[in-house]
Amino acid sequence: MTGFIAKSTIIGVMSLWMIVSATASNPEEDEIVFENAGFNHKCFNCHGQKTYHYFNQSTEKEVKDRMNPYFVIDSVAFYQSNHRNFMCTDCHSSDYENFPHNGELRMEPQFTCMDCHGGDPTFAQYQFERIEEEFQQSVHSTKHSNDFTCWMCHNPHTYKINARNNLNINEVIIYDNNICLSCHADINKYQLLSDQTNPNVLVTHDWLPNQALHFSKVRCIECHTEIDKEMLIAHKVQVKEKAVKRCVECHSQNSLLMATLYKFQTVEKRNKLGFFNAAILSDHYIIGANRNYYLNVASLIIFGLTLLGITIHAIIRIMSK
Ligand code: HEC
Ligand code: HEC
Ligand code: HEC
Ligand code: HEC
Ligand code: HEC
Ligand code: HEC
Ligand code: HEC
Repeated sequence: MTGFIAKSTIIGVMSLWMIVSATASNPEEDEIVFENAGFNHKCFNCHGQKTYHYFNQSTEKEVKDRMNPYFVIDSVAFYQSNHRNFMCTDCHSSDYENFPHNGELRMEPQFTCMDCHGGDPTFAQYQFERIEEEFQQSVHSTKHSNDFTCWMCHNPHTYKINARNNLNINEVIIYDNNICLSCHADINKYQLLSDQTNPNVLVTHDWLPNQALHFSKVRCIECHTEIDKEMLIAHKVQVKEKAVKRCVECHSQNSLLMATLYKFQTVEKRNKLGFFNAAILSDHYIIGANRNYYLNVASLIIFGLTLLGITIHAIIRIMSK
């Protein structure tokens, strides 16, 4: 009898553990086939490395030269990006197949995201139209009009969706923050748009205690965009006066992080488990926002065991009748 209960207890604990651990694992990625890798290889021959070769017809010599570092494209990152199935010439003129490239090509207008994604039902879940609207009201757009494009945050050769499909929140935070830091920590890119000397974000945020920890646990957009319940990623970056500064906005039971950083996780976990509560924040302990993770698990286990005990008890009683 006790042996039986002990066994059931172990099974009970194990299945609970399996539920808990299953929710923590990442979904397997599909195997990817790159239709246009053969064609793109011609471009990567030069644009994939620091140096390149060409045959100079006039001198009839093979020439080796250095590639402009800004024109080097990381092929690994390209083939992980959203547009990995593209030919380079889907976005660039096919005249680029000739070298030396025709000088007028650099005047060529670029596609915008909306040229391809606007009004396309295939991508409805991303709400491109609404993103564009928010972006146009953002401080970047209002201060720099058309010079500030979507490409400035979404690198055409590396941009890949993260928050929507990556369950590793730390990776999402690093990815998203690097988008902002690509300017706010790089004076060369920043000054493409502004003559100001870039204020150092480490200095302008010195009021935030334990800054390094905060910057690795929350994203810039948590504090700098207007929360939009309908959107996974709010795009309206506001003036600095409107940024979140009060600690309780995050360090409280109804933390704003539930509507921003943890939004995707909340939806996912609710779909999978049919409930949502402390489990959402189980991997993240934020003072004031959640109770102790181990206490939560312990209470879950105790609850499970009690239920199990009652069931076994009932079964035994029915059987012995
Ligand atoms: C033989 C080497 C070589 C090959 C092959 C090559 N490029 Fe280039 N590309 C260069 C060099 C060098 C530059 C910078 C100087 C210039 O603009 O000519 C450049 C510049 C560019 C630029 C930037 C132009 C600007 O000024 O903004 C683009 C875009 C580009 N290449 C696209 C392509 C594409 C697409 C392919 C493949 C179809 C390709 N290149 C193949 C060497 C090459
Ligand atoms: C989804 C569209 C898209 C694809 C696919 C694409 N590019 Fe680009 N590329 C752009 C845009 C847009 C710019 C201009 C970026 C800017 O001005 O900030 C650009 C700029 C460049 C530049 C100039 C450097 C720079 O960053 O401004 C080079 C070189 C280049 N592309 C080469 C390539 C090569 C080689 C491939 C294929 C491996 C490729 N591109 C595929 C959209 C694309
Ligand atoms: C030249 C047309 C073109 C341009 C320009 C373009 N896209 Fe795309 N994009 C596509 C196509 C087509 C796909 C689907 C690719 C596939 O399924 O392999 C795609 C895929 C995506 C995806 C992934 C969708 C998914 O479900 O996997 C996102 C996100 C995305 N694009 C965002 C952008 C953003 C943001 C911009 C501008 C910065 C942009 N795109 C510019 C044509 C374009
Ligand atoms: C100031 C920087 C910035 C600008 C400008 C910007 N974005 Fe984004 N965008 C982001 C960040 C950060 C993310 C989150 C990336 C992730 O984790 O997937 C994002 C995500 C997205 C997504 C994926 C949303 C989802 O639900 O998965 C789309 C689509 C997108 N942006 C489109 C656009 C378009 C279109 C524009 C121009 C009208 C634009 N973005 C301009 C920073 C920017
Ligand atoms: C915890 C909330 C929070 C986070 C996270 C945060 N910021 Fe801020 N940020 C603020 C506040 C509040 C201000 C206004 C500070 C002031 O005026 O004293 C500000 C100011 C700024 C300014 C204007 C500074 C100036 O003096 O011109 C920039 C630019 C900025 N932040 C960028 C970023 C970037 C990039 C990140 C991500 C690496 C980030 N912020 C993360 C809250 C935050
Ligand atoms: C392409 C470069 C670039 C990128 C990427 C970028 N910014 Fe900026 N940002 C700027 C420039 C330039 C300004 C200065 C605007 C001005 O005052 O002229 C600015 C200003 C700001 C300000 C201050 C507004 C004020 O009131 O002074 C904040 C806050 C800010 N950015 C947040 C962000 C966040 C958050 C991200 C990432 C989602 C981001 N930025 C990405 C270039 C960039
Ligand atoms: C945008 C949301 C947000 C805001 C605003 C915010 N915090 Fe935090 N804070 C966090 C997150 C997330 C963590 C990290 C929790 C973790 O370790 O996973 C954190 C961690 C901390 C820690 C470190 C706890 C430890 O384990 O060492 C302290 C202390 C702290 N915050 C104090 C503050 C104070 C004081 C303010 C106001 C000036 C503030 N925070 C504003 C989100 C925020």
